[in-house]
Amino acid sequence: MNYRIPRGTQDILPEESPKWQYIEQKAHELCRRYHYKEIRTPMFEQTDLFARGVGDTTDIVQKEMYTFEDRGGRSLTLRPEGTASTVRSYVENKMHGWADQPVKLYYIGPMFRYERPQSGRMRQFVQFGVEAMGSDDPAIDAEVIALAMDFYRELGLKGLKLVVNSLGDKESRTAHRNALINHFKPSISEFCPDCQARLEKNPLRILDCKADKDHPLMENAPSILDYLNEESKVYFENVQQYLSDMDIDYVVDSTLVRGLDYYNNTAFEIMIDGEGFGAITTLCGGGRYNGLVEEIGGPTTPGIGFALSLERLLMALETQNIELPIQDTVDAYFIAMGEEAKKNAPKLVHEMRRNGIVVDTDYMNKKMKAQFKAADRLGANFAMILGEDELNENVVLIKDLSTGEQQKVAIEEAAEWVLSHQGEKGE
Ligand code: HAM
Repeated sequence: MNYRIPRGTQDILPEESPKWQYIEQKAHELCRRYHYKEIRTPMFEQTDLFARGVGDTTDIVQKEMYTFEDRGGRSLTLRPEGTASTVRSYVENKMHGWADQPVKLYYIGPMFRYERPQSGRMRQFVQFGVEAMGSDDPAIDAEVIALAMDFYRELGLKGLKLVVNSLGDKESRTAHRNALINHFKPSISEFCPDCQARLEKNPLRILDCKADKDHPLMENAPSILDYLNEESKVYFENVQQYLSDMDIDYVVDSTLVRGLDYYNNTAFEIMIDGEGFGAITTLCGGGRYNGLVEEIGGPTTPGIGFALSLERLLMALETQNIELPIQDTVDAYFIAMGEEAKKNAPKLVHEMRRNGIVVDTDYMNKKMKAQFKAADRLGANFAMILGEDELNENVVLIKDLSTGEQQKVAIEEAAEWVLSHQGEKGE
């Protein structure tokens, strides 16, 4: 039997995982600075939550969910995104009653969508997302966008393009919706079956259709920006003003609609230009979802957030040849020579580790020369050599592998010695 990894998934092998850890650490650290706190929700939820939360006219709900029945006959779904789960938890845990408002949360974890796998589009992918619930101050829209931009900037990405739009409040959306229906209805038979179904249910999504993107009616379709009422217009202007105040460049694109149903007012995406990135250019997407908490059974509560995938981020870093400052080497390699020294090695290595140095040793009965090679390969700064003589003297011979210099150090001081000399190596 030949087992293969499921389509659209990947193993993150030890050579790659330090990058993931570095990026995740960056996300934790940035969220700490912005004062967002981590939430961890289950990887599966009741199927209904996503049908309601994400919206049943979306591609995600119609085509992409991993839905299964458990042994108790319940319909469950692997989460395709994090917002619905976060909002479910917000409602269930009555976070609207918490003293500190808005409630500012973030998550990092795997999401699952049955998509056609291609570069940057996986069936299991990891999202880093934030959700701020309880405030409809346009300043928090700007804060959420700034956090996403800072994340990429601090990792060294260039060529980012922030695209913002307003989808308006309920009143503006209704006016726009009617205009869209009037615009597309007479020729709807020329559109794909998905769009035909969307016309009455959710005509906004027609603008997002890939199959019909070249239809002449797309070009002069009614723009939401012409249908914003005064309140929505002022809201959008305020968000833009805050972004400008923060020196965050952006462009307004009235065709940005996003693929999920819950958005209103602010919607945004962060794209990347650049060759070699294939068809996928959106790194991050988010927006405001003022009706969602209510939809999931909570009190009327405004919310805004974004999500981005670490897979696409890593691709972007790779295409720009950005090396992350990853520390993956060992401080020292312990080499025991002779029976007696070998017997003492495990205890001594263990003590070194307890004293805080990163040290490895041989378990393959390698010859001395091969052990020095291993030390080199692992990037060790020092070899710690223990032979019969050293054992009798209660010392180890520490060899600086870059200069070849060596000296004897008392065993109980060896870890401390390595730690204090690490600095000279620029670690
Ligand atoms: P989304 O646009 O569906 O929004 O996904 C956000 C980001 O997740 C995308 O921009 C992309 O980086 C990444 N992504 C999505 N699908 C895949 C995939 N198949 N493979 C790799 N990466 C993928 C949401 O998920 C919303 N929950 C965002 C949000 C949070 N809005 C408000 N709060």
